[in-house]
Amino acid sequence: MNRNILCIGAGYVGGPTMAMIARKCPDIRVTVVDVNARRIEAWNSDALPIYEPGLDEVVRECRGRNLFFSTEIERGIEENDIIFVAVNTPTKIFGHGAGYAADLQYWEKTARLIRDHAKGDKLVVEKCTLPVRTAAAMARILKSGHAPYHFEVLSNPEFLAEGTAIADLERPDRVLVGADATPTGQAALEAVVGIYARWVPRERIITANVWSSELSKLAANAMLAQRVSSMNALSALCEETEADIEEVAHAVGTDSRLGPKFLKAGVGFGGSCFKKDILNLVYLCETYKLHEAAEYWRQVVAVNEWQQGRFVAKVLSVMFNTVAGKRLALFGFAFKADTGDTRESPAIRVARMLLEEQAQVVVCDPQALDNARQELADVAEGVAFEPDPYKAAAGADAVVILTDWRCFREVDYGRVFAGMRKPAFLFDGRNCVDRVALHALGFNVYAVGKPALTHLD
Ligand code: NAD
Ligand code: UGA
Repeated sequence: MNRNILCIGAGYVGGPTMAMIARKCPDIRVTVVDVNARRIEAWNSDALPIYEPGLDEVVRECRGRNLFFSTEIERGIEENDIIFVAVNTPTKIFGHGAGYAADLQYWEKTARLIRDHAKGDKLVVEKCTLPVRTAAAMARILKSGHAPYHFEVLSNPEFLAEGTAIADLERPDRVLVGADATPTGQAALEAVVGIYARWVPRERIITANVWSSELSKLAANAMLAQRVSSMNALSALCEETEADIEEVAHAVGTDSRLGPKFLKAGVGFGGSCFKKDILNLVYLCETYKLHEAAEYWRQVVAVNEWQQGRFVAKVLSVMFNTVAGKRLALFGFAFKADTGDTRESPAIRVARMLLEEQAQVVVCDPQALDNARQELADVAEGVAFEPDPYKAAAGADAVVILTDWRCFREVDYGRVFAGMRKPAFLFDGRNCVDRVALHALGFNVYAVGKPALTHLD
């Protein structure tokens, strides 16, 4: 068995994780393949297909040395004995389990491809997020052919967050590898652990059985999202009681049992994974007839959607119950700062709700305008896209901050205010600007979970 690595799926996970392995293991040849030729072309160009701070540098260092991007999937399977699978596993939108279950068609196709093109034993590593016990299905497909080869399936879920992917990969809190307790399973586990051990301290490499590993990934995302929904639920109570959600978060987060991270209230969580993974967990619970457990997790998503609706309702009510014909500058469209990714971004729902109210929406984002255009393609006639925040806010009635990009914290709000219609409103959906200073400039400021600062009464 050779030690060269293939990764099937050159997306937000496959690209950065393989680039990091290539950087840390210069003696291992790493090939990343994808069915999407345009994406591969972009990986081979100076304009990478995803924006991620620090990624350009790693790719530039390794590409052509021991990191290769290609569309030759079959050849990749033939030539590499360690195969990571990082294809997309979105929520199913048809048939049984629609709206909840993971759509495993892309993943299943790769299993069949590996089975059909293997010319020797293969170690298959699940990098994508999958329902618990998926490895058993993959093993069944791999063993269903006539090939005399041994296929070992491992789980190695990825915990990177977008925007900090390179730092997360360089210094992960932990790497998790799940394998069967059999001698071949344990040998495969050692091979994968050996890759990460080149730069991750051994005590941070956790091993487990395959099922724990698969479930831990869903559990980690569900619990992170649950913290955000907990804070967002509390933020609504703050707005009714003059408590300040940031003071509450600080007081709560200094309890060492809780910790300070992931306690930021806002317009809700987005991203391609939290919602999909929680709904997947809900589906799994329902499958095992654990209805109360399913309902518990379903509420994390329900609160997130309620928070977005609540945010828009606030915009509407304080702007005299109508935004029809008013120009609203949305500062930020990405689901979080430092990424161009807009998948499940709260900005999508917020923009659509404002458009339904017949607002004139102007979207401003330093990296996500192309994706924003696609997300809003069906309502494009009501939307303008503008990279310059001053131009976006010129003549606007309100600025609505939806992504906590640093550039929106550093905007000259005096200049923004001067160009706006009065009364000028600012809604901070990420609690990222100095609301007292903005109020002093003349804005009517509404942040999440904080008392409003207005000049209206
Ligand atoms: P993505 O959509 O960005 O990338 C997936 C890629 O797989 C696409 O480029 C697609 O063309 C390719 N693909 C699909 N079927 C293929 C096939 N049969 N052969 C070759 N290529 C194929 O998705 P992503 O964000 O990288 O997520 C991948 C997985 O990782 C998901 O399961 C996700 O839940 C998980 N994950 C994502 C993140 C994240 O930050 N995005 C973090 C951790 C885990
Ligand atoms: C998340 C997890 O953090 C990763 O560990 C995981 O690997 C990844 O999902 C995945 O499986 O895809 P990501 O979605 O990229 O990463 O980004 P996060 O930093 O988790 O933010 C998710 C959303 O929650 C963003 O919209 C962010 O603005 C929001 N958020 C986060 C809050 O509203 N408040 C917080 O305190 C933290």
